[in-house]
Amino acid sequence: MDLLHNLNWRHACKGMNGSKVPQEKVDRILEAINLAPTSLGMQAYKVIVIENQDLKQKIYNEACPQQPIIACSHLLLFAPFTQITSEYLDEYFDLIKRKRNPDPEWSKKYRTKIEGFMERNYNNFESWLTKQVYIALGVACVAAANEEVDSVPIEGFDKDALNRILDLPSQHLSSGILLPLGYRDPGKDWMNGQPKVRKDLKDLIEIIK
Ligand SMILES: Cc1cc2nc3c(=O)[nH]c(=O)nc-3n(C[C@H](O)[C@H](O)[C@H](O)COP(=O)(O)O)c2cc1C
Repeated sequence: MDLLHNLNWRHACKGMNGSKVPQEKVDRILEAINLAPTSLGMQAYKVIVIENQDLKQKIYNEACPQQPIIACSHLLLFAPFTQITSEYLDEYFDLIKRKRNPDPEWSKKYRTKIEGFMERNYNNFESWLTKQVYIALGVACVAAANEEVDSVPIEGFDKDALNRILDLPSQHLSSGILLPLGYRDPGKDWMNGQPKVRKDLKDLIEIIK
């Protein structure tokens, strides 16, 4: 099916029915997330996939009382790192070496560039890291639609509570955004079948020739 058809099919699913998404579909969505672009290629976040129903219920009770949290199949949390350590950079450069085996001079220069970037952006570092997860989120929404899997980005939750429940600060992570994956329940999903609310392209796009 074509991309625009799939994007018109998807919507922010407000009510899910508890059915399981087949693992191969979840795997393809996760693979797509792994292919999302990130600033400097650093992928400075984790994607936590929660299948455990008791944990979903705890998150619903204590951090986010939105129905898809408990009625989804897989609950994804995009969790940005709160800092980039030199160990993290070591691992990143090991990975680059394994994949591309670049000239060591290039690696040295690139690392200096990254360190300089981090220093310059130190005051906004957390906000820069958090922005990265929204790109992955977008890719995940498109990939889910491509699998005819429903999803809904959820930003409306108590971040401190979720940090505590998942013990994120001890791993230098924070809760960025949630994405339940599952299947719509037409009786509970009031968004189902609603026309899309989008601007005319002429009001969104400005072409400069
Ligand atoms: C960053 C972000 C945060 C959102 N947070 C919520 C949320 O907490 N709860 C919810 O039901 N929908 C949430 N949404 C869904 C939007 O309301 C929805 O995508 C938007 O109204 C457009 O509708 P559509 O996705 O159905 O086309 C969020 C979407 C984004 C991109």
